[in-house]
Amino acid sequence: MSFSVDAEAYDRFMGRYSSPLAAVFAASLEVLPGQRVLDVGCGPGAFVSELVSRAGADSVAAVDPSPTFVEAARRRYPGVDVREASAEALPFPDQTFDVVGAQLVVHFMADPVRGIAEMARVARPGGLVAASVWDFVGGRAPVSPFWEAAASVLPNIEGESGLTGAGRGQLMSLLGSVGLIDVEETVLEISVRHETFEEWWEPFTLGVGPAGAAAASLGRAELDAVRGRCRDLLGDGPIALTAAAWAARGRVST
Ligand SMILES: C[S@@+](CC[C@H](N)C(=O)[O-])C[C@H]1O[C@@H](n2cnc3c(N)ncnc32)[C@H](O)[C@@H]1O
Repeated sequence: MSFSVDAEAYDRFMGRYSSPLAAVFAASLEVLPGQRVLDVGCGPGAFVSELVSRAGADSVAAVDPSPTFVEAARRRYPGVDVREASAEALPFPDQTFDVVGAQLVVHFMADPVRGIAEMARVARPGGLVAASVWDFVGGRAPVSPFWEAAASVLPNIEGESGLTGAGRGQLMSLLGSVGLIDVEETVLEISVRHETFEEWWEPFTLGVGPAGAAAASLGRAELDAVRGRCRDLLGDGPIALTAAAWAARGRVST
């Protein structure tokens, strides 16, 4: 799926969750100063920020197919090599990086097997390849209340739980399928507090991602019904929202 939105809209809708996820995802990969690292599907740079603080800007590269996100990531993280590209065709030679990660991206890849195979190709022997995707199947994505509400109003609406990587073991299988070894999967949890229901809801009207696109496609009455159902589920606030992502990692054989 393409993200043709500005970086600030993304920050308000998903960045508020992907930034805390990036902190725990990066910590789980134990990135060291000076290691060469690549962020695949960097968006405006939530995961880049964590990689820069661990490895140093000169050691970090990032790609994203969205020109607005590439521009934002370049502006926000001087010194990082940010390129406009997709996972399925990474513009780097074989065996370039110590760590290659994709946070909240696999489920948007046109060809996830090819994307992960490319990530493995550009990692050095012994290098780490890792990916994370919200647990949509378990209803533990930050946007899961929206999809639950939407399904109760529009029973045929397609959420994100059918996307690759959104359920237990799927990322592990994917990493194993391209020949990575020592593959393992964990759950990463984050908590975000919203003072009011409006603070949680308003960014859904910005058209970002599948949930934003679904909201934009609804008529006024349908959207009001979904919003009302979300309020029933979450209350008026404060809302202590806990979300969980599957995170899998594997190594390139030596
Ligand atoms: C939910 S955002 C995640 C952005 C960032 N990693 C974060 O955690 O905030 C998904 C990103 O995947 C990018 N994307 C979509 N298809 C892609 C592909 N085939 N290869 C690489 N990135 C892709 C989008 O442009 C978008 O920036």
